[in-house]
Amino acid sequence: MTSPAPYFELAILNARVITLAGVSPKCGSEMSQLGVIPCGHIGISSGRIVSITQGPVPSADQVIDAQGRVLMPGFVDCHTHACWAGDRLDEWAKRLRGVPYLDILTAGGGIMSTVRAVRDTHESELSETLLARIDEALRSGTTTIEVKSGYGLTVQAELKMLRAITNAAANASIRVVPTAMLGHAIDDQCPDFINTTISQTLPELTRAFPGIAVDAFCEKGAWSLEDCVSLFRAAGASGHPCRVHADQFNSLGMIERAASLGLTSVDHLEATPAENLDLLASTWRNGRRGVMGVGLPLCGLHMADGRFANLRRLIDAGGACAIATNCNPGSAPSISMPLAIAAAVRYCGLSPFEAITAATANAAHVLGLSDVGRIEPGCLADLILLDCKDERELSYYIGRNPTVLTIAGGKVAYQA
Ligand code: NIG
Repeated sequence: MTSPAPYFELAILNARVITLAGVSPKCGSEMSQLGVIPCGHIGISSGRIVSITQGPVPSADQVIDAQGRVLMPGFVDCHTHACWAGDRLDEWAKRLRGVPYLDILTAGGGIMSTVRAVRDTHESELSETLLARIDEALRSGTTTIEVKSGYGLTVQAELKMLRAITNAAANASIRVVPTAMLGHAIDDQCPDFINTTISQTLPELTRAFPGIAVDAFCEKGAWSLEDCVSLFRAAGASGHPCRVHADQFNSLGMIERAASLGLTSVDHLEATPAENLDLLASTWRNGRRGVMGVGLPLCGLHMADGRFANLRRLIDAGGACAIATNCNPGSAPSISMPLAIAAAVRYCGLSPFEAITAATANAAHVLGLSDVGRIEPGCLADLILLDCKDERELSYYIGRNPTVLTIAGGKVAYQA
């Protein structure tokens, strides 16, 4: 007696499946290994991937024929500031005339102008505008998106932002991961701002959002190295994983401290000297608990300053990296992962294959998610079908959205 063929809620047939199966996250030469199945069928039930076969065609309530096109895990956009109010068009005009980003910040503009706009905006309006941006993201293939606070800076305004983000998450069809960016800038209006953040805002955050990741901007004119270290030590002791914006314009010594502080990721890296990229890579030498470098190439594109993270050096030295859009109103006004991938290949030295790993499996690791970013039995059915039969096309085209179908948690969230 043969057992009956399994029956699924959804099946995708005849796809070129980019599985990213195997070790995860991937470092060094592993980042080019995509685990491609040239013609496979995926069976999905209860929102999860149940089977991946190359043999008999599975039966299902709903069947989609991929006709040989590329099926891959949905993008994990692991670094965004997509919750904001107001605009920065006047600042952009100034920057086009050559005024540096950090000069605008130290004069009270830049991030601080968005802080003022966010403080003046109602929580529900923040949620609504964020949801519209999330909708745009899922249309270009993002199925998990991280969203930082950081435009509030006071206890009330930071918690308002985080509630707005979690409300949007409850109404979004893709996964939204909030991060508390308590250390985004220095609020000159608040006396003793650093101590207030660490001794008052952080404990309130721990009560309201236990275990949420904490982030800070380690930069001249923002948080100093020692202030970041104090924040991360206190946050770590209260059970928060920590990430940092490091070396965007100036290398202040954060890379040297990242491993001992137990940071999950160091993001930006445009100004990181080669020897510190090697140091970051060396954190991966003894197993899979290294510090992930996160490249944000849309920043260099928008800033038009020719400054990009040298991710080629990091990978060649055995390290691991992710890439993200960094969507925000100041330095990267885009929520397109295909554009971030195209830029990473051209300016950060990634191969088209490494860029796929950086945008999926490795980015999932940054967010502490083990069931997305790969196509394997048991993983969440977060999948995208691309309008191409060769995965290199994803980074080859510039400014094209190749996503024809986004499936989030086993459900069709977008169809072109
Ligand atoms: O990662 N540099 C700090 N934060 C953002 C920019 C935020 C803004 O300018 O509003 C970034 O580039």
